[in-house]
Amino acid sequence: ATVPVLTIDGPSGSGKGTISRAVAQRLGWHYLDSGALYRAVGVAAGWADLDLDDAGALVRCTFDTTIGFDEGGEELRVLVNGHDATDELRTETAGAAASAIAAIPEVRAALKDRQRAFRVAPGLVADGRDMGTVIFPDAGWKVFLTASAEERADRRYKQLKNKGVSVTMDGLLREILARDARDANRAVAPLRPAEDAVRIDTTGQGIEAVVERVLSLLPARN
Ligand code: C5P
Repeated sequence: ATVPVLTIDGPSGSGKGTISRAVAQRLGWHYLDSGALYRAVGVAAGWADLDLDDAGALVRCTFDTTIGFDEGGEELRVLVNGHDATDELRTETAGAAASAIAAIPEVRAALKDRQRAFRVAPGLVADGRDMGTVIFPDAGWKVFLTASAEERADRRYKQLKNKGVSVTMDGLLREILARDARDANRAVAPLRPAEDAVRIDTTGQGIEAVVERVLSLLPARN
């Protein structure tokens, strides 16, 4: 039988990461943070001082970059070319680089198989922008999470503040709106809900309520 997949797509700050990790944990399934792959290439491109307009160099960089996930510790660590890049990955610089790189069709194609390789028994929760539309179109359950831009900026603000990163609400809101526009308007795999996705607006909702709502889509397990 094919390994079951639940896809959770949505814009940045919609709560995808938090919800997906919690749902995966509750189900005892694997978890794919597909954004981390694009961010990893963005970080590697930064290390190599590549020009974000040089598509050819970025495609080569995608093939050359090794990305490892270490689930052993308390927090999921991401290794880029063998170096722990977990913290660097979360910065807005990495997010913006990821978003620019993610618009290159050859980069997306190169990362396709790496993403599909996460589909391992007993199941997978895949979080991203095109999990339900492109990577796992045959997923058994598809969710599209949204939240108002203000709430998403507010969540990011708190996250970054916690990490001691200095940011302003205004700057974050502007960055989020710019990234939304770029992700929604690109020619390849633009951010949009799959036709068969269940939309959930998380504005003003607690994590546990959303987790329960997502789990309620799956058949009851004994
Ligand atoms: O989800 P996260 O904010 O980590 O994603 C970073 C960037 O990677 C997004 O802005 C988007 O451009 C890109 N991305 C993508 N497809 C995915 C996941 C992320 O294009 N499946």
